[in-house]
Amino acid sequence: MPLASTGDIVSSAAHGVGAFNVVLLEQLEAVLAGAEQANSPVIVQISENAVAYRGALGPLAAAAREAIAEAAVPAALHLDHATRTDLVEEAVRCGFTSVMYDGSHLPWKENVARTRETARWCHDHGVWVEAELGAIGGKDGAHAPGVRTDPGEAARFVADTGVDALAVAVGSSHQMTRRTAELDLGLIRDLRAAVPVPLVLHGSSGVDDTTLTHAVHAGMRKINMSTHLNTVFTAAARSRITSQPTAVDPRGYLRPARDAMKHEVARMLRLLGEGPV
Ligand code: G3H
Ligand code: ZN
Repeated sequence: MPLASTGDIVSSAAHGVGAFNVVLLEQLEAVLAGAEQANSPVIVQISENAVAYRGALGPLAAAAREAIAEAAVPAALHLDHATRTDLVEEAVRCGFTSVMYDGSHLPWKENVARTRETARWCHDHGVWVEAELGAIGGKDGAHAPGVRTDPGEAARFVADTGVDALAVAVGSSHQMTRRTAELDLGLIRDLRAAVPVPLVLHGSSGVDDTTLTHAVHAGMRKINMSTHLNTVFTAAARSRITSQPTAVDPRGYLRPARDAMKHEVARMLRLLGEGPV
């Protein structure tokens, strides 16, 4: 299918939408195959950190565009946690359908000014924009267990910047390898009532299945997940490498890794897309 609009996927979802990060071609394939297995729309995310690892945006972006064009379900392409304006512009030129501008390391006024400017430029190019508050902390700070987004500040930030979605801090934390985060469901409901755009949960890997479902029903819409899928992918690869210590063909361990991630993507999309339990 042609690239889907991120805004359309998010606004037409009855419940939660999965947004999954990819660094490797096998992970891109796993996300799209998992979405096909669940018969669900999906958002493919490439982060600024992933671009730094690869050394360039172009090749992985081109692979994502080609793979999405071959997919049987709607898929959007999102630039995640971008702090560099030049990278936002490159992503838009590469056909990304949305970007997250992350000015959360900046003081409030500067974050508002830069986010507003980025949102205006992206909107002129038909691209959907997610942002994050700065006054409550940075990528790791804002999504640390003790940090919370104030609903009034969140509403003011959205009004001042014109963004299409907002990442909020409600108890999750990036890169958790155990799913033990406790979310503030009451705060999610308050944010949902105060903020006129979809809410985004970052650091979803640390949140267990039941709590994720409750977060979606309380008002979270876009669910960003990376580490949990890396855990599943790497465990399958590790198991194969351990059981076949003399094998050298990377396909031997990347195939089971890709399969395991595909099944977990499908399971997660079904979970997020379910109605109230
Ligand atoms: O933006 C990406 C997500 O927030 C991923 O966080 O690796 O903790 O799931 P996670
Ligand atoms: Zn994040």
